[in-house]
Amino acid sequence: MLQLDVMLKNAEREILSATDMKKIEELKVQYLGKKGELTQVLRGMSALAPEDRPAAGKAANDAREKLNQLFSDAEKIISDKAVKERLYEERLDVTVPGRKQDIGHTHPLTQVIRKIENIFIGLGYQIAEGPEVESVHYNFDQLNAPDNHPSRDEQDTFYFDAEKLLRTQTSPVQARVMENNAPPIRIICPGRVYRADEVDATHSPIFHQIEALVVDKDITMGNLVATLKLFAKEMFGEETEVRLRPHYFPFTEPSAEVDVSCWVCKGKGCPVCKYEGFIEILGAGMVHPNVLRNCGIDPDIYSGFAFGLGVERTAMAVFGINDLRLFYENDARFLSQF
Ligand code: PHE
Repeated sequence: MLQLDVMLKNAEREILSATDMKKIEELKVQYLGKKGELTQVLRGMSALAPEDRPAAGKAANDAREKLNQLFSDAEKIISDKAVKERLYEERLDVTVPGRKQDIGHTHPLTQVIRKIENIFIGLGYQIAEGPEVESVHYNFDQLNAPDNHPSRDEQDTFYFDAEKLLRTQTSPVQARVMENNAPPIRIICPGRVYRADEVDATHSPIFHQIEALVVDKDITMGNLVATLKLFAKEMFGEETEVRLRPHYFPFTEPSAEVDVSCWVCKGKGCPVCKYEGFIEILGAGMVHPNVLRNCGIDPDIYSGFAFGLGVERTAMAVFGINDLRLFYENDARFLSQF
């Protein structure tokens, strides 16, 4: 009996101080297992006198029950505590302010390209594309600027070899489209172009143009001017005026540089238009008969107009930006304003 008492005291102390299930399992083996302490006490009972055995047996059973009770109480306490701890660890504070997700938006240059595309899609144009790594053939020869033509110098670019270069303009797409499609043709092609220019506030060796080409029967300069006026009003506002100045391009004849009235001062003169009242945004003209012929279109039957617009220049104008390098620096503080 004394042995049982001592054992129970020790067991109770140990079980109550156990903090995890692993310890409880160890203690179960230690007290209730085959070689456990209770089993040993029971074995010792064989040495007792027969009349003492019933009482000793009962005491042993009571001790087993007591142990079982202690174990199941301890298990419950430990598992309750574990649940509480997990709930605490996994708690969700719904009052904490959410983390801000910064969602970007299209780059200002892309915005301008999309806006121009939409204006021309509305007029029934299709979007065409061409390669940025272009051949001398399409970039110059087909466009009526043969070898030694002085206009090639003005568009110095990056040559891979004598035949391959980075296109200096989107105009080669004109030639590619005309070679592969019979009139009527109505396309615009936005894209990246390259020139060996030093970087400054208004020049970049990589920039964007949008080319437009219309070829059909009876296309005249009048159609070109009407299209440019309509475009300028859609792009820069209803009161915008268009001005054509005679110019030279090898692939158009006649050719013009096209200015639009300044949308800031409405033509009066201000810093944005450098006090000229007008801002140059594109080159245009009637497609040269040689170009039509080069591309398999009979200039006696068909005529066309084309123009090429500088995207950066237009975007600078639209957003009032005076340095095009800002478009390429990818500084979110700048880009997020537009
Ligand atoms: N390709 C010319 C340039 O880059 C622009 C242009 C396009 C002019 C189409 C006339 C017609 O300067």
